[in-house]
Amino acid sequence: MRKQIAAANWKMNLTYQQGEKLLDEILHEKIALKQDQQVVFAVPFPYLIMAKSAVANEQNYFIAAQNCHHKKSGAYTGEIAAEMLHSIGIPFCVIGHSERREYFNESNQELAEKLNLLLEQEIQPIFCCGEPLSVREAGEQNQYVEVQLKESLFYLEASQLKKVVIAYEPIWAIGTGKTASSDQAQEMHAHIRQVLSKQYGADVANEISILYGGSVKAANAVDIFSQPDVDGGLVGGASLVAAEFTAIIKALK
Ligand code: G3P
Repeated sequence: MRKQIAAANWKMNLTYQQGEKLLDEILHEKIALKQDQQVVFAVPFPYLIMAKSAVANEQNYFIAAQNCHHKKSGAYTGEIAAEMLHSIGIPFCVIGHSERREYFNESNQELAEKLNLLLEQEIQPIFCCGEPLSVREAGEQNQYVEVQLKESLFYLEASQLKKVVIAYEPIWAIGTGKTASSDQAQEMHAHIRQVLSKQYGADVANEISILYGGSVKAANAVDIFSQPDVDGGLVGGASLVAAEFTAIIKALK
């Protein structure tokens, strides 16, 4: 079975001490994960080493960065390179989050470059995609997401693509409390898998974990995660509350 992943995206929240306490509370629950289940904490850059140390002895618990730059290195003050993440042993990195696409004008081309740099450094990308409300209201979400996939992923070889986790996050559901219905999530996840299957074949497409993100809560996680093409979630607000996120972990298939 492909990996079922509960990923926390802390975004720009929590002090170092609050983050340390939250990890301690969640890990103290000692939720035993099945072999194909994983928990990933995407934390702010300054907390990466602390978080890595916190999960060091926890099987199938991992740490992610929330971004990396699209160039290998150089005069990009304040930025973080993929090889820097590799040098401190970070195994995952979120890229293409809609907030970065919007506020930092990240293009599909730049994301293709980030994917390449992360894969070169043997870091698993968590590649975000998803449509704005206007596109959903026009019924054009499938085409919109397909372009994001094609322009950022399709230059990859199949062996590289297998290392990529995809996170479908409808922008209109992020931070709004307007979660996509489980049918809407399943419909898009199946479409994403179909697009990948057409390009790489069904065997490869069926190996890719596709997470849902957008107002995932303890109350809706079981329903959403039970969908056949949903392989877990990328969770923002609810991941900042230990009781909520532990319940979401327990909702994994
Ligand atoms: O990356 C996950 C995030 O965008 C979802 O945020 O607060 O709607 O769970 P939230």
